[in-house]
Amino acid sequence: MCGIVGYTGYRQAYPIVLEGLKKLEYRGYDSAGIALHKGDSLAVYKKEGKVSVLENFASIYDKTSNIGIGHTRWATHGEPSDRNSHPHVSASGNLAMIHNGIIENYGQLKSELLDKGYTFLSDTDSEVLLNFIEYIKTNNECTLEEAMRIALKRVSGAYVILLIDQDYPDTIFAARKGSPLVIGIGKGEHFLGSDASPMLEFTKEVVYINDYELAIVRPDELILKNLGNERITPYVQKLDIELAAIEKGGFDHFMLKEIFEQPKTIFDSLRGRLDLDKSSVTLSGIEAIEDKIKQARRIIIVACGTSWHAGLMAEYVIEELCRINVEVEYASEFRYRNPIITKEDVIIAISQSGETADTLVALENAKEQGATIFGLVNVVGSSIARISHAGAYTHAGPEIGVASTKAYTAQLAVLQLIALKIAKIKGTISDERFNTLLLDLAEVPEKVDFILNNQVENIQRIASKYSGAQDALFLGRGFNFPTALEGALKLKEISYIHAEGYPAAEMKHGPIALVDENLPVIFVATKDSYHDKIISNMQEIKARKGKVIAIVSEGDEIASSLADDFIVVPNCNEVIAPLLAVIPLQLLSYYIGIERGVDVDKPRNLAKSVTVE
Ligand code: F6R
Repeated sequence: MCGIVGYTGYRQAYPIVLEGLKKLEYRGYDSAGIALHKGDSLAVYKKEGKVSVLENFASIYDKTSNIGIGHTRWATHGEPSDRNSHPHVSASGNLAMIHNGIIENYGQLKSELLDKGYTFLSDTDSEVLLNFIEYIKTNNECTLEEAMRIALKRVSGAYVILLIDQDYPDTIFAARKGSPLVIGIGKGEHFLGSDASPMLEFTKEVVYINDYELAIVRPDELILKNLGNERITPYVQKLDIELAAIEKGGFDHFMLKEIFEQPKTIFDSLRGRLDLDKSSVTLSGIEAIEDKIKQARRIIIVACGTSWHAGLMAEYVIEELCRINVEVEYASEFRYRNPIITKEDVIIAISQSGETADTLVALENAKEQGATIFGLVNVVGSSIARISHAGAYTHAGPEIGVASTKAYTAQLAVLQLIALKIAKIKGTISDERFNTLLLDLAEVPEKVDFILNNQVENIQRIASKYSGAQDALFLGRGFNFPTALEGALKLKEISYIHAEGYPAAEMKHGPIALVDENLPVIFVATKDSYHDKIISNMQEIKARKGKVIAIVSEGDEIASSLADDFIVVPNCNEVIAPLLAVIPLQLLSYYIGIERGVDVDKPRNLAKSVTVE
């Protein structure tokens, strides 16, 4: 949520910061801005709208400078507008700052500053923090670094801030609490970013900054300190991502590229973990907490959005295979509702970004109460990965499209492995069932490839037929009930069509009132133990003239003859079916979004990494 970039070195800063912002635009695109140190002054360019608007606006100016900071905003305090865009400039004009996060006590700080005669140009909490820092610097006659330390001790909330100071022509001052910050190490240059994508082209050596750390960044020097002014040795890590992974690679959109990457990403998430020859699952993270799992009376899954849907599927699968109680919680509710957590609880946190604020804080709370935390995240080195006792990466690679696709199926794949592993540990699965599921799981990448090779034209046709719909209903049962929820979420995110996901039978208890000849009802009707039941539900919709679109298993004449339109997926074990059934729903949403002219990679109001609550 909000992307931040910084550069100090020997190259021109503006193009590096601008290109960095384009790579981080998935984090927010309400406005964008860049500040440069111009020797005798600070120059700030900022504009409401996407980074391309800023680029056009700034094109006429001389932007020569070797140091700059840039921001792409997802609005929290104050509407998207030029004046609420970052960077903000302090009252004296000597400091420029960008901020990702929320200053929760900004109201109190603002009234203190108003009493001292400060006025504000924006409605943001960020400008308040900047002027608070400047006030301390002036009032205490101290350095900016000292002023930041004092000010940040007064701040509640989350932040990554980058500042440049008129008096320090080569230095970026940075601090972090609760929002991500990565610093890339070059030779005679340093790069800063919300994630590593802006610096991949230049360096693979990075330092992930921790909460309550302050960085003083110069071309040849990175000084890291805590808020108590003690030096910390930077821990340099090597990145394992190639630039190509964050480029479109010939596809029109990142979302389409990521949908088509799924045979590979699912394979990568299983690689080295699923061994057919040895009939085994290796997951070192689960092995590390094996005793805790044996003692646990329940598993609590905590996540948000699409990751929550993956968690819901895991509830069905883990309870089925492992006979242990699983509770799936929205992180935003769990963190505030004073849940009962004991030392015997194992918490599985699911997050693509590893930075979602609600999930992170929910975990911190649970950890304080003695629970064991297992993190299932995609972004290596992210905050959730770092606070977990144990974990597994999904290995889906960078996901740039704001709507999650390949990260979701990678989560499903690893959750399947987790369920199999726990079932083995607990002895709740027969060898025969274990081996069958292992084999079926190993075949998923090939079957996803089959869908992508055989169903795209059909899905495009269906998308164009229903793209004018105002509402849509997604229905599924059992293992595929979460798939219905995920299908509905994808459609509303990238087509702006109102969509609801429901358990198919629950539809009779209310949503059926919506059914008429205009309502597309999408059934996830693959062959499983509930198949007869879902066929009855389809009949109920048909009887009320609803339009039925069905995801059906290969060779299922009954479901396909009942549907107005159908999409075929290969047969597989019902436990694993969610991995296949979601693929057509992702494509359907994508093509409907395109038909409706939506910017599918950056749908309105959304951001990829939700680092505010
Ligand atoms: C939907 C989507 C969001 C995320 C949610 C959690 O397509 O991407 O619903 O799933 O914001 O994000 P992570 O998984 O990063 O914690």
